Amino acid sequence: MPYYSDDLIEQVRSANDIVNVISDYVRLQKKGSTHFGLCPFHNEKTPSFSVSQGKQMYYCFGCGAGGNVITFLMQYENYTFQEALQALAQRAGIELPKQEMSDKARQEADRRARVLEVNKTAAKYFYAQLRMEQGQNAMQYFEKRGLAPETLKKFGLGYANKFSDDLYRYLRKQGYEDELLKDSGLVTIDERGGRDKFWNRVIYPIMDVNNRVIGFGGRVMGEGEPKYLNSPETIIFDKSRNLYGLNFARSSRKHYILLCEGYMDVIALHQAGFNNAVASLGTSFTPGHANLLKRYTKEVYCTFDSDDAGIKAALRAIPLLKEAGITAKIVKMQPYKDPDEFIKNEGADAYQKCIDNAQNSFLFEVEVIEREYDLRDPESKTAFYHAVAQRILEFDEEIERNNYIEAIAGKYHTGFENLRNLVAHQGTRAGLTRESRHLKSGISEKKKKEDGMKQSQKIMLTWLIEEPQLFAQISPYLGPEDFTEELYRRAADLVFSQYQEGRLNPAGIVSMFTEEEQQREIAALFNARLKEVVTPAEREKALWETVIRLKENSINYRSKHLQPSDMEGLQALIADKKGLQKLRGQKHV
Ligand code: UTP
Ligand code: MN
Repeated sequence: MPYYSDDLIEQVRSANDIVNVISDYVRLQKKGSTHFGLCPFHNEKTPSFSVSQGKQMYYCFGCGAGGNVITFLMQYENYTFQEALQALAQRAGIELPKQEMSDKARQEADRRARVLEVNKTAAKYFYAQLRMEQGQNAMQYFEKRGLAPETLKKFGLGYANKFSDDLYRYLRKQGYEDELLKDSGLVTIDERGGRDKFWNRVIYPIMDVNNRVIGFGGRVMGEGEPKYLNSPETIIFDKSRNLYGLNFARSSRKHYILLCEGYMDVIALHQAGFNNAVASLGTSFTPGHANLLKRYTKEVYCTFDSDDAGIKAALRAIPLLKEAGITAKIVKMQPYKDPDEFIKNEGADAYQKCIDNAQNSFLFEVEVIEREYDLRDPESKTAFYHAVAQRILEFDEEIERNNYIEAIAGKYHTGFENLRNLVAHQGTRAGLTRESRHLKSGISEKKKKEDGMKQSQKIMLTWLIEEPQLFAQISPYLGPEDFTEELYRRAADLVFSQYQEGRLNPAGIVSMFTEEEQQREIAALFNARLKEVVTPAEREKALWETVIRLKENSINYRSKHLQPSDMEGLQALIADKKGLQKLRGQKHV
């Protein structure tokens, strides 16, 4: 694996104009200084994908995808950093040296790239095994489950054969060392040698949104325990931040995503034309999953198993989705167990009807509560209404409460006024509406403040990048150390030193961060939306307000973290406080 120096990376990057490169993939239209187009990384009908020639960066205001020209190829073509660089070098006619040593920063990225490579090799191996003589049983198993050849291909399904160290030996023969193979989670190694994690199982490669194989699931063919075996978490496999099928669902161009429980559900749904289906990976749904989905959709239809476990899974997912700002609906498939079984028996059109009739998640929750009561018994029935009223109180807005009161009153024939009175009564009796809202807003106030702070730091960086003349004005007051978010400070460090050297280069900063996730965040940093300010006076005011807010925050932060023995830090703090006062006076803010 070749390494490249920062200078060389920068030479290749700057030789490829970003508008030029992206135009090969996306239709761009120029608006002012920026080009816009439909984002290739999420579903949208109006363009929020922007490419800036000046910054040599792209950023999607819809899903947050962003970076420089190298990141773009990594995301779009599913290339590793090296592959993207090689493609761009070729495009620009630059010859890359065979081998160049690099600094330590690339080593971690290199390690990840190597584990990815092992996974890719293993996936190809499993895929080929399925199609060989020893894979016959496995092939029959998939056929019996109704999977078409195109489906096997699309999901890269495979087979781990009966030998318990076959893959291990194959990978060693390809030149991968034990240490690396251990890191991949595909083998365990002890004094007796290496042993494969998966054997005599059909294999489901797990891909991230960029189609890279990050882990595997293996199922026994028929009965057996455990039914599914999954790769452990590794440096590239974080189960709570990846969803099976999202690599396809992200570009399905549908306004919602179908969330199901199992690998086979996802596969059956895709085969039936529902290419917006995803599932969590042998773990329960997490806030990380909700935030991941938020990038791609505002609506999620839960299509979990019809049993108690499925209901529990839905009750867990609904509040997490809501918290992330996603509307949840519940798809009912009775009397069938799961989407796979439903489609096999009733077909795709019937399943589409289930989707069309999906239930509002709150009404679903009420239905679950109802199971605990006996509505034929007056006392139990009253208790049920009390429980429902309690839940209705959780909605902040009166109109929303009334809408639910209306829906539930209609369904259970309680009469709108009766139920509304009960809700109002419970609300005042416990002082709950006010109190709970107080409590809630207390939490969100703090979060809002933190988000606000991050936003200010972001805006400052965007400002600095968009209007270079500002640097001289603000640098006497603000330094990189005033950016309290770790990643922002690192970015600020680079921006400030580039200014001091008189060569601002935002896209170059992006490639100093090797993780795609970090590149995406840096792109977001340099592309915050600046408020449209009308007059120069307003602009000036907004600028200095932001500077002062950052400085205040930085002073607070540093005094909280100051060590008692740190005299120098203390003196700097005092000086900064004085400076801030003076600045306030000068700028009248
Ligand atoms: P299910 O048992 O519902 O699996 O578990 P399924 O996808 O419907 O499988 P088939 O149709 O019987 O082949 C749902 C999911 O829970 C995880 C897997 O991700 C599975 O897809 N699981 C289940 C495990 O990780 N390990 C197990 O032993 C069982
Ligand atoms: Mn199933």
